[in-house]
Amino acid sequence: MDSSEFLGFLTSRSSVREYGSDPLAQDEIDYLVTCAGTAPSAGNLEAWDVIVVTDQDTRAALAEAAFGQSHIEQVPAVFVVCANYVRSMSRYGDRGILYGLEDATIACTYMMLAAHALRLHSCWTGAFDDEEVRKVLSLPQHIRPVSLLAVGRGHPPAQLTGRMAEGEHVHLDTW
Ligand SMILES: Cc1cc2nc3c(=O)[nH]c(=O)nc-3n(C[C@H](O)[C@H](O)[C@H](O)COP(=O)(O)O)c2cc1C
Repeated sequence: MDSSEFLGFLTSRSSVREYGSDPLAQDEIDYLVTCAGTAPSAGNLEAWDVIVVTDQDTRAALAEAAFGQSHIEQVPAVFVVCANYVRSMSRYGDRGILYGLEDATIACTYMMLAAHALRLHSCWTGAFDDEEVRKVLSLPQHIRPVSLLAVGRGHPPAQLTGRMAEGEHVHLDTW
């Protein structure tokens, strides 16, 4: 893949919130997890875990925890990506809180792009009640849910979502 193909790959992805019920194949799920496993992490501690949720009742409960976002119930698989603070804080103390969140976020990004590479659709979902998600999935206290990545085959929006102008993010040499 050359650099313009890479940019084309990135810009052709968009969040999808309408899904069919066609389940993911096990090798599709495995591919996403394999790709996430290649992500960099602080100190190579890989302070993230993922719970792959395909069970209908659990997805319904997660959708409720996500303030009724219906794509979480509709989609065939939800990858609940979590920070694992025991892994990150055992070496880095309080800084490990940030590293755990970063590790989980990067892993989720890799899964989202891996889904795109398989021509699957996804929606990163960050609006949810942490405690409710904890209850639904019986998460221990040192595990923080960071994102619910919905993955399936869906109906992408007709138009890609716009972005700020490139220069607006960039500061040269100082703020
Ligand atoms: C941290 C984060 C949290 C998000 N939370 C939600 C969410 O709760 N519900 C939702 O429908 N989309 C959510 N999104 C998706 C964004 O709305 C979407 O990525 C953004 O509008 C850009 O659109 P695009 O992904 O189609 O390019 C979230 C994305 C990120 C990165």
